Amino acid sequence: MAVTTTAEERDVLYSLISRRRSVRQFSDAPIDQQALIRILNCAQGVTGSDGKRGVPSAHALYPLGLVVVARCVQDVAPASYVFDPERTCLDRLASAPAAGSLLSVSLADDLWLETSAAVIVITADYASALQHFCDQQADGLRGARYVDVEAGAVAQNLYLATLVENLGGVLVMGVDDAALAKQLGLPAEHQPVALFCLGQY
Ligand SMILES: Cc1cc2nc3c(=O)[nH]c(=O)nc-3n(C[C@H](O)[C@H](O)[C@H](O)COP(=O)(O)O)c2cc1C
Repeated sequence: MAVTTTAEERDVLYSLISRRRSVRQFSDAPIDQQALIRILNCAQGVTGSDGKRGVPSAHALYPLGLVVVARCVQDVAPASYVFDPERTCLDRLASAPAAGSLLSVSLADDLWLETSAAVIVITADYASALQHFCDQQADGLRGARYVDVEAGAVAQNLYLATLVENLGGVLVMGVDDAALAKQLGLPAEHQPVALFCLGQY
């Protein structure tokens, strides 16, 4: 049976969407670990017994991933972590990028790449998406379009979840992707698509 939405839920959602804004100035205060996990879960967490998630994905392929550069997160050692959407937890990936290294890949001197408590990197397995959807378009590039649209859905969920956690955040795409991938030590099959800087403000 379809689950019906209450008028209260409707009003909350509409209000949150109307209040969503980018925040680029952060305080030094740490963010709560559980708040961060809830935000990540909103962006990629598994929400159904069939493996489906809170964001849509073409053919339910789920080619996206989330890597977190944690700088100032309560009870989380500064480092880079991969979010596991099945287990809803963070697995250590590598040391945190050296201070200044994210700013060095910015195309616009986006200081918030350094001053935010955490940076969530939306990554994608472009090769598997391209392969999966290669027959859908003459140039074989349909999969890349799907990845980018899916990343947009993730980004909006990140904005809204950040808002309900009383944190601020901003999506950043003006970066040198290849240089960023090198800085982060991402798994070979995953490339960065976008970054989301978040923190207290
Ligand atoms: C695809 C995309 C790329 C963006 N890239 C950047 C960026 O590189 N740096 C930045 O500070 N903001 C970036 N933004 C945030 C926009 O600047 C912001 O959404 C816009 O100014 C509207 O403001 P609002 O988010 O407060 O409504 C990006 C937003 C989108 C959707």
